[in-house]
Amino acid sequence: MSKPRPCPSTCNVLLIGSGGREHALAWKMSKSKRLGTLWLSDSKNAGLLALGTPAPLPIDVKDTFRLQRWCDSEKINLVVIGPEAALAEGFADALATRDRMVFGPVKAAARLESDKSFAKDIMRQAAIPTAESRTFTSLESARQFVIAKDDACVVKASGLAAGKGAIVCENKDEALEALDRCMHAREFGAAGDKVVIEEKLNGQEVSVLALVDGRTISLLDPCQDHKQVGEGDTGPNTGGMGAYCPAPVIDSKTMALVERDVFVPAVDTLRREDEIIYRGVLYAGLMLTPGGPKVLEFNCRFGDPETQPVLARLESDLLTLVEAALAGRLDAVRADWDPRAALGVVLASAGYPDEPRTGDAIDGLDEAAKRPGKVFHAATKSAGGRVRTAGGRVLCAVGLGDGVAAAQRAAYELVDCIRWDGMQCRRDIGWRAL
Ligand code: AMP
Ligand code: GLY
Repeated sequence: MSKPRPCPSTCNVLLIGSGGREHALAWKMSKSKRLGTLWLSDSKNAGLLALGTPAPLPIDVKDTFRLQRWCDSEKINLVVIGPEAALAEGFADALATRDRMVFGPVKAAARLESDKSFAKDIMRQAAIPTAESRTFTSLESARQFVIAKDDACVVKASGLAAGKGAIVCENKDEALEALDRCMHAREFGAAGDKVVIEEKLNGQEVSVLALVDGRTISLLDPCQDHKQVGEGDTGPNTGGMGAYCPAPVIDSKTMALVERDVFVPAVDTLRREDEIIYRGVLYAGLMLTPGGPKVLEFNCRFGDPETQPVLARLESDLLTLVEAALAGRLDAVRADWDPRAALGVVLASAGYPDEPRTGDAIDGLDEAAKRPGKVFHAATKSAGGRVRTAGGRVLCAVGLGDGVAAAQRAAYELVDCIRWDGMQCRRDIGWRAL
């Protein structure tokens, strides 16, 4: 498609998504003088509902005709897509017009996240450093491979699995069990019918996110996410229990290397080999191995919970940055960031990540709102005059401070205002930086 026209001075936005990342996006956009009406795909999240109006129709990619007509009638100038599922389904393709920009890559580009075997192929073509891997669609062949190798490995559902589809295996027996979970018990549904088996890497992890306008790549400060449910980074993976930014584990020299060896070849290879123009956020989950940074995964969107601390530090107008990314003008704008560190702690329901309990009344939100920092809602709803839990990851409390230790103190001061029956959180977010 030809380049979209820039947004008018007042920009009506439809925000797709319902979690903490989207609350942070809505909060930041609502600070822009250019925001007109903010429409939401979600009609439940109490934090989001305080900032926008639910769209009066289902946001359904299978009913794009009605959705396009509604976007036209409400003069939606910009659609911002938070979650990977919506990108993988092709909302960006369906909703972009000459007069309506969509922030988020097209379906073919979103495959970098929604199809790990495709991402591995791109990485091989682009000579991007990553773990050795093989892809399987037959359980029997995958089993034979694991038995013959007899090494520590990582078994990954190739499709989208809400951050839970990578199973780190220390030995052959664990790997065989992981294969059964994916391909026999089909714990991840169709996402696990194809698996990628990867060599297990060692090192610290870091998330590097960039705004990409098709050509220019603008790296954001690095973050570190805590994916595991238990303190000291133990136990099963979750969608993320907390994150902080900037993460001192990666220095500026290594960031430059990551830009040159990961981001530039990824964007170039998509364009050259597949004629895919990547616009939006590109997120590389990296492991800093003794042999240098290697890619564990690509995501085609802002991270959750990384976005909450990242946007807490953004001083520039988010709408202007988004527009520049979509118009191919990232080289002409500069983003200003609060020099302080930001750290977000996820507050989760009892039973998360297996079977989160919902419906519990949340206390202390008013008290937290009086303090510096910000509490983002990930899964809440209003019912019976109270804000209640409505999912696994419920809130993300973000504190800012001079350095990670001070940001951590500020975040836990917010956490300590908030309670509900069965609330759980990790008390050690940021430990690797302290
Ligand atoms: P992914 O969804 O691919 O990012 O994987 C989720 C998590 O699994 C990562 O954040 C790592 O902690 C772990 N992981 C993934 N791939 C590997 C690997 N090749 N070696 C070691 N750990 C990995
Ligand atoms: N926090 C990890 C992710 O967004 O995938």
